Amino acid sequence: MIIAVDGPAASGKGTLASGLGRHYGLPYLDTGLLYRAVGRAVEAYEASDDFEQRAIAAALTLDEADIEPEYLQSSKIGSLASKVAVIGAVRSALFDYQRDFATQEGGAVLDGRDIGTKIAPEADVKLFIQADSKSRMERRARQFEARGQAVDRYALYHQIEERDARDMLNPNGGFYKADDAHLLDTTLLDIEAALRAAIAIVDGTMAGK
Ligand code: DC
Repeated sequence: MIIAVDGPAASGKGTLASGLGRHYGLPYLDTGLLYRAVGRAVEAYEASDDFEQRAIAAALTLDEADIEPEYLQSSKIGSLASKVAVIGAVRSALFDYQRDFATQEGGAVLDGRDIGTKIAPEADVKLFIQADSKSRMERRARQFEARGQAVDRYALYHQIEERDARDMLNPNGGFYKADDAHLLDTTLLDIEAALRAAIAIVDGTMAGK
């Protein structure tokens, strides 16, 4: 079984997708980490003329060892990730890794922006997670605070909106709800309730197959 979980920044899709992976005993890939690792690799070149070429080179040579989640969670890296993610050649360079993960024997859960539309359009179950910007900002703020980091909520809200705009206008992105994706709005749901709702959708979809 392949489960595709897509949605905007800080929608809770990562927590949900990893929870689904545990529930169904499936390996889980956070594809945002790949874009974040590329963003981190070119952090020093953000303002340089060859940013794009460097990002492509970084994506082509990306190694699993570069995917160190503990260094990739900041807003700064998130914003760089959304900048490298508009480069078509970066997306193609990262495609095979994601596709191989999705199609491994026994199935997988992947979360990102284009899993249901481009990486695994044949996924058995597709979820599109949505939550309003204010609650996404608040969730992200609490994650940072839990790590002991000070948070400027006003700035964070604008970063999230800016990233949404860049992601949604991404001409190479495929960031939209697939026709056959189930919409799950988590604005009013805590983690447990959202996971229960997602499991109900997966079980319901699989039962109907
Ligand atoms: O899911 P995230 O916030 O960690 O993703 C970081 C950035 O990477 C996001 O702003 C857009 C990009 N991304 C993408 O374009 N396609 C994906 N499948 C995953 C992430």
